Amino acid sequence: MKQYTFTLLLFLFILSTANANDDGVIKINMKKVHLEFKLDGNGQPQYAVFFGDKVVIKPSQMGFELVNDAPFSKGFEIINSTQRAVDDSWKPVWGEVKEIRDHYQQLTVQLKQKEKPNRLINIVFRVFEDGVGFRYEFPHQENLDYFIISKELTEFNMSADHKAWWIPADYDTNEYEYTTSKLSEINTKNVLGKGSDIGVKFVEDSTGAATPLMLKTNNGLYINIHEAALVNFPAMQLHVDKNDFKLSAMLVPNALGHKAYLQAPFKTPWRTVIFSDHAADILTSKIILNLNEPSVIKDTQWIKPMKFVGVWWEMQTDKTLWRYANSLDDVDAEGHLINNGKHGANTPNVKKYIDFAAKNGIAGVLVEGWNTGWEDWFGNWKEEPFDFTTPYPDFNIKEVTDYAAAKGVKMIMHNETAGAATTYERYADTAFRLMNKFHYPAVKTGYVGMIIPRGEHHDSQWMINHYTRIAQKAADYKVMVDSHESNRPTGLHRTYPNWMASEAGRGNEYNAFSKGNQPEHETIMPFTRFIGGPMDYTPGIFKLKGYAHLDTARQVHTTLAKQLALYVVLYSPLQMAADLPENYEAHPDAFQFIKDVAVDWDDTKIVEAEPGDYITTARKEKGTANWFIGAITDENARVSVIPLNFLDKGTRYMATIYKDGKNADWKNNPEAYQIERFVVDSKVQLKINLAKGGGAAISIVPLDLKAYPGLKKYK
Ligand code: NOJ
Ligand code: CA
Repeated sequence: MKQYTFTLLLFLFILSTANANDDGVIKINMKKVHLEFKLDGNGQPQYAVFFGDKVVIKPSQMGFELVNDAPFSKGFEIINSTQRAVDDSWKPVWGEVKEIRDHYQQLTVQLKQKEKPNRLINIVFRVFEDGVGFRYEFPHQENLDYFIISKELTEFNMSADHKAWWIPADYDTNEYEYTTSKLSEINTKNVLGKGSDIGVKFVEDSTGAATPLMLKTNNGLYINIHEAALVNFPAMQLHVDKNDFKLSAMLVPNALGHKAYLQAPFKTPWRTVIFSDHAADILTSKIILNLNEPSVIKDTQWIKPMKFVGVWWEMQTDKTLWRYANSLDDVDAEGHLINNGKHGANTPNVKKYIDFAAKNGIAGVLVEGWNTGWEDWFGNWKEEPFDFTTPYPDFNIKEVTDYAAAKGVKMIMHNETAGAATTYERYADTAFRLMNKFHYPAVKTGYVGMIIPRGEHHDSQWMINHYTRIAQKAADYKVMVDSHESNRPTGLHRTYPNWMASEAGRGNEYNAFSKGNQPEHETIMPFTRFIGGPMDYTPGIFKLKGYAHLDTARQVHTTLAKQLALYVVLYSPLQMAADLPENYEAHPDAFQFIKDVAVDWDDTKIVEAEPGDYITTARKEKGTANWFIGAITDENARVSVIPLNFLDKGTRYMATIYKDGKNADWKNNPEAYQIERFVVDSKVQLKINLAKGGGAAISIVPLDLKAYPGLKKYK
């Protein structure tokens, strides 16, 4: 993998003029997808999108309003329009497939306001086989230099009251459970009223939904609305007009209510609409990645997907603590903090995790709570909550990292900022130098808390720039990033392949410290949160019950087999084995799947999928002949039918099936599982019972009859 990407083939058709018809409509299409553009009677740009004979987006308006300025949406004329076709492909550094085709028709419309100051704007549309993307460009021009956006006027006008899987349009967090309802029933007040254990929330619009927003029409069309390449701009959310099902762009503001401070020339992020008659196609769409720029990192050799364990779930479940002393007042006569005896990140405990990782071939170990500051880190909205460099007295960073190095284990740094992004920027070089000094190849960042600069939100323009600056800085120091509480991804991992994963959604951890995630949660996440990129969901919990010390009702809302399936269904190049070593040691046969499963893939097939109900995903491990399958269901039991027609014809494989036990169900009997082994080939169709809230994980490797003599054929 010398270089991150190279062009395999490129057919660039000659640029041609795109002419409007007699009604002033310009049309472009790619197979069944077609897009129409025109200026309405007021000279305002308008677009519409169709899929065969189905309407995806009814005529919808476009444009902007600027602070203290005339509208930047009307009075336009078309001064030029051009079209080109592109059929290209490229190789991601890591990912779900080894090669990505980028095939589209592009229409660029150059607009000029007829009246003074005769401002210019271009709108660029790309029409793919499975959707569209469009962005605005503010070209260099005489009468527009610095400007402030007060509102984006882009609409996504829906044809009817579609079914929606949504979370509130929150300026600070995406860590909600999903609600399934009609568009007209979206009401964020109902969700906020329920309580959710989310650290910081900020919702203004009672009918606002976050993107990626997943929709399904009555005539079976699946539609996903999101954005790509979010750079130097606030995140886009959607205001829903209940009466005519019109969605309009809502940009996350700063304290002044402003949205984006810009200077021409400038290109906005892409607005994306992915659609298909088949739910599975939404999950394999590459539109978002294709709309992002190629990697800015030239040498990517050091970027390596990996699995990791960590001193983490034990804190989430209150076995140990992040903090070293119970409070900052707990000091001895010399003023030193007094050890509370429950601090998780102590040298001997960390060494246990390193031993466990080394023994089981898990590449990395994350340690949280290793550095000073955890006594009063949350809720005080203060500068300098952490310095990111000073270890607690019982964490010997040299001893720990030397020990890890001797065992071939990689340490993962933890930098919780508590939302004080300003502090993190001041300390970032020192923090990354420390990582380099002690050979940490990756960092998990976190932003739990209200943001500083005060008045900024997690998803406002300043913070979007902050996350990107940290990704860039990490790249300068050759460090991989896993960011928590950052904005939901928009495919920027193509441009910064060291920004491997984000949380930016409701992870498995909510099963530890709140009422949890409903069993359908993971069947919705791939259609929503994962559309823009990988998530550090932290799967792999084996001890699913037994948290009565936290709350009598506390438990994980899946079966054990479903936790295994999540390694395949929920894609991330950094994948945690989140449970404690002793819980894995209690089930070595099931843990074998976590040891075996890959984190980087040559190919991905979605066998079956329906948002909110079930997903079955098959992936081929990078550079091997091995396949891994994950099948999950919601609160209903079901039979997953999996034709193995993707296997090489004529080759015999061994399938190891990790499935729910006979009487398993997520609520009463989640830890019951069984493991079966069979000979399979491409003609076999597996039929596997999934329990309520259950799942199945399958590894398929070329058959070695010497190791498994007498293995039976699957029937
Ligand atoms: C929230 C993160 O999601 C979690 O993984 C982390 O342990 C805590 N913040 C503390 O940083
Ligand atoms: Ca979180």
